[in-house]
Amino acid sequence: MSETATEARRRRTFAIIAHPDAGKTTLTEQLLLLGGAIQIAGAVRAKGERRRTRSDWMKIEQDRGISVATSVMTFEYAGQVFNLLDTPGHEDFSEDTYRTLSAVDAAVMVIDAAKGIEAQTRKLFEVCRMRDIPIVTFINKMDREAREPLELLDEIEKTLALDVTPATWPIGSGRQFAGVYDMAHSTLRLLGEGGERDEPVSGLDDPRIDSLLGEQADVLRESAEIAAVYPEFELGSFREGHLTPIYFGSALRGFGVKHLLDGLANFAPPPSSRRADTRTVEPEEEKLSGFVFKIQANTDLNHRDRVAFLRICSGRLRKGARLKQVRTGKSIPVNAPLFFFAKERQVAEEAWPGDVVGIANHGVLRIGDTLTDGEELNFRGVPSFAPEILRRVRLDDPMLAKKLRKALDQLADEGVVQVFRPLDGSQPVVGVVGQLQLDVLSSRIQAEYGVQITFENTSWSTMRWVAPKEDGPQDRAALDRFLRTAPSQMAEDHDNQPVAFFTSDWGRKRSEDEWPMLRFLALREQH
Ligand code: G4P
Repeated sequence: MSETATEARRRRTFAIIAHPDAGKTTLTEQLLLLGGAIQIAGAVRAKGERRRTRSDWMKIEQDRGISVATSVMTFEYAGQVFNLLDTPGHEDFSEDTYRTLSAVDAAVMVIDAAKGIEAQTRKLFEVCRMRDIPIVTFINKMDREAREPLELLDEIEKTLALDVTPATWPIGSGRQFAGVYDMAHSTLRLLGEGGERDEPVSGLDDPRIDSLLGEQADVLRESAEIAAVYPEFELGSFREGHLTPIYFGSALRGFGVKHLLDGLANFAPPPSSRRADTRTVEPEEEKLSGFVFKIQANTDLNHRDRVAFLRICSGRLRKGARLKQVRTGKSIPVNAPLFFFAKERQVAEEAWPGDVVGIANHGVLRIGDTLTDGEELNFRGVPSFAPEILRRVRLDDPMLAKKLRKALDQLADEGVVQVFRPLDGSQPVVGVVGQLQLDVLSSRIQAEYGVQITFENTSWSTMRWVAPKEDGPQDRAALDRFLRTAPSQMAEDHDNQPVAFFTSDWGRKRSEDEWPMLRFLALREQH
């Protein structure tokens, strides 16, 4: 097997999806602890004064106590290299999360044992489903009062239409939480003073269980027997995204996390083939290819910079390589690809399929860019969604128009906002998913470009990308005519693609009916 194939097979690239507060940060910390990437729990996000992480660079983040930026953390465990792509929990940043999910091969879904499936869990799950991303489930906070495990499993199965297989089964909950029974290995893993300890048993009938658990033994037997009705774990079904193995634990107590990580190590898929516009790319190919799914500015307060996160899809990336940016044909030097660990970054000598490396650049790279060893191909699937908050940008000092243009261009490259330039030449319009994004935008434009802006409401409630239905001259002419009907309501996006704004769904539907030669798209896959 080639080195590229061997290294690719060792990679597990995943994200954690969760509703805010379910315990994603706590779990991340425990995973990094097991992977040896951090020494003490609390390093990812400590309380009070120490509550600052590397991505907390921005005042707004600190003020609101949320983490706005996505980061990548790499650790090794059981001979495998795990790349954990962190996703912001705040729903205003869901676009960022969607883009991150385009770069993973698996996801861990964290569920609060008392709350079950929550709104954000569901939304994120739907994105995973759209991409057939396999999901491992962690039911967290078992050390608190929890819902019945069967009820939780039932809810996952029904609301997500996903088959479930309990990999472990909890013994009690809240103060009575004693640990779990590992169904596959017939082992009790018990919660103790020093963390976890394993007690091998020959099966649920083993009398040792009685001596270890006392009264809880029969409760475990009863509920675990019912759990046997769930289908056995089936790798193929899991990898196709139809079935999820379920682990119970308490991230706060560091319990059950090893089971989860072992599950990921055993079941989560290595990088697989990826569709590009011209062909399907296999990870073990020797030629390098990858795509940029995230741009992060100011990752290091001491060095104001922009880092593009490249997910490698095939081949080996060597330090010092020159890669082709397919969109522009430019050659991009990669002199110092960065690897990210919990607290520091390191220059990578080489990186492999599944890895995510940071490439510092001054605004050349943008989200959705494909980089290759020279081949002309584009990966699909870094999505843009039609925003529903559309605001006109007002500039306090008109002399700074050029600077503002640059600022908006760069922030659009980073995916902080979508920028639209109306065809009538009026002031730009920005589109966002949530109000918080507008705050981030204006504070960054002020801090980094010295330009003061305000936002003005528009009457538009939605927009669509507009494209000819067929690639023939007739439909293209229809598009030209459509764009001329009301230039003040038409614009170009950051990639010069035409868009139309609408004041109501009714207006949008009317345009769709009146212009059958056109497509009105709510989602655009960048390339
Ligand atoms: P998030 O990133 O998904 O938003 O969740 P986070 O890990 O920040 O956890 C949210 C709250 O839930 C935190 O408490 C955290 O300590 C708690 N928590 C996480 N996992 C467990 C668990 O397994 N058991 C219990 N009992 N609690 C858990 P907080 O008081 O809101 O924050 P903090 O002040 O402790 O940081």
